[in-house]
Amino acid sequence: GDVAPARVRGGNKPHAVVVALPLQGHIIPVVHLALRLAARGFAVTFVSTEAVHDQTARALGVDPAGYDVFAAARRRRRAPAGGEEEAPPPLGIRRVEFLGALLHALSAHVERLLRRVVVDPASTFLVADTFFVWPATLARRLGVAYVSFWTEPALVFNLYYHMDLLTQNGHFRCSEPRKDSITYIPGVASIEPSELMSYLQETDTTSVVHRIIFKAFDEARGADYVLCNTVEELEPSTVAALRGEKPFYAVGPIFPAGFARSAVATSMWAESDCSRWLADQPPASVLYISFGSYAHVTRRELHEIAGGVLASGARFLWVMRPDVVSSDDPDPLPEGFAAAAEGRGIVVPWCCQVEVLSHAAVGAFLTHCGWNSVLESVWAGVPMLCFPLLTDQITNRRLVAREWRAGVSIGERGAVRADEVAALIRGVMGGEEGVRIREQVRKLKGTLEAAVAPGGSSRRNFDEFVDELKRRCG
Ligand code: UDX
Repeated sequence: GDVAPARVRGGNKPHAVVVALPLQGHIIPVVHLALRLAARGFAVTFVSTEAVHDQTARALGVDPAGYDVFAAARRRRRAPAGGEEEAPPPLGIRRVEFLGALLHALSAHVERLLRRVVVDPASTFLVADTFFVWPATLARRLGVAYVSFWTEPALVFNLYYHMDLLTQNGHFRCSEPRKDSITYIPGVASIEPSELMSYLQETDTTSVVHRIIFKAFDEARGADYVLCNTVEELEPSTVAALRGEKPFYAVGPIFPAGFARSAVATSMWAESDCSRWLADQPPASVLYISFGSYAHVTRRELHEIAGGVLASGARFLWVMRPDVVSSDDPDPLPEGFAAAAEGRGIVVPWCCQVEVLSHAAVGAFLTHCGWNSVLESVWAGVPMLCFPLLTDQITNRRLVAREWRAGVSIGERGAVRADEVAALIRGVMGGEEGVRIREQVRKLKGTLEAAVAPGGSSRRNFDEFVDELKRRCG
């Protein structure tokens, strides 16, 4: 649509053009990053797709035409969980079509758009998600600096960044990849092939996702700066190694302190209000279950987990995206599940996760290990049961369960089974294991809080980044 360049409205402020990747797990942190940049004196032009704009409007029950993201966030209305006004089903993501668009259509469109908003290249910089396949090339053509924004852990960035080493050493891009430990990635003492991101474990590397990753990381090499939603103390050796490669700033966790409500609406789906139900549950008694915004589980896995949840005896709040198995299977829970769970749990299509996690009734999180979910769980002090499904989630689990010991793994040694799930839930929510994990999470929470407090590493890194960009574009 029509855009008024922020430079015009922002007077002489340096201008950040922030382009959001149109996926829920990327929209949330990039909105908060844009707000932080604005708070530090940059004029910000935020570029999003009409589809995301319309979907966030519909999620709030407002008309997308003339919808103001700031006003809408203040008017947020939510349907009570379990009531008659259950939230409408989320729109499913057609992943392949979406990825195809990411690779082709968006690039030309974004260039046309950016040529209109970049008024004065010397005072402008482009902040774009690392997964885009055009930012460094485009930034060079426009004569602006490129800040690559990485929403996953530094470890995952580092592994993609060194795909060439994995290939040279026979762990990737060959018909029979090596199965022994990987010990040659800078900053990573040792990692197992089974802990790599799902795409690096595949032998067919010709898919559209692979083409995106290869091109995106060619572009990332051309980035002037990288901002990462992690905390130095969580991944010290990886962050140190990446700093040797380029100006790399660990500035996470990027959410408002205390999970304060965002000034901008970011939810792409209507949130059910779970607060009344949670208020009636005893402290730390509820298992929160969610598989995030994007990945799918199989019907079999879902049935095993449902069996385990029932057998564990735990109370639960389960976010069941209607497309979590597939868009053609909107009601995948086993027959009789609702009756068996009566009085013990609720199932909702979507919720405000940070509100749920920070509720005193929540005692553990069965998570797919999306990076936002991991950071939010640590911030809320909630132990995790890790059930990764795709992409970085597998590598994120290594950090949570193996390095930090802030959670346990489900189904790591083969297919997930109901009896294993039940035992793990009991162990984390009631057993000695749970006490140990809770203590670890408590320490990590302290680390995150210290990082964003005055003098903390993320605060310092963000200050340095701001000073550098003001010097360069001021
Ligand atoms: C994917 C990647 O796996 C992840 O690592 C990357 O950072 C983003 O894309 P996704 O499935 O979106 O993950 O999960 P996650 O990173 O956890 O992000 C989901 C976000 O949606 C979280 O911020 C979470 O709070 C929010 N959410 C989720 C809700 O608000 N309500 C819900 O019901 C479920």
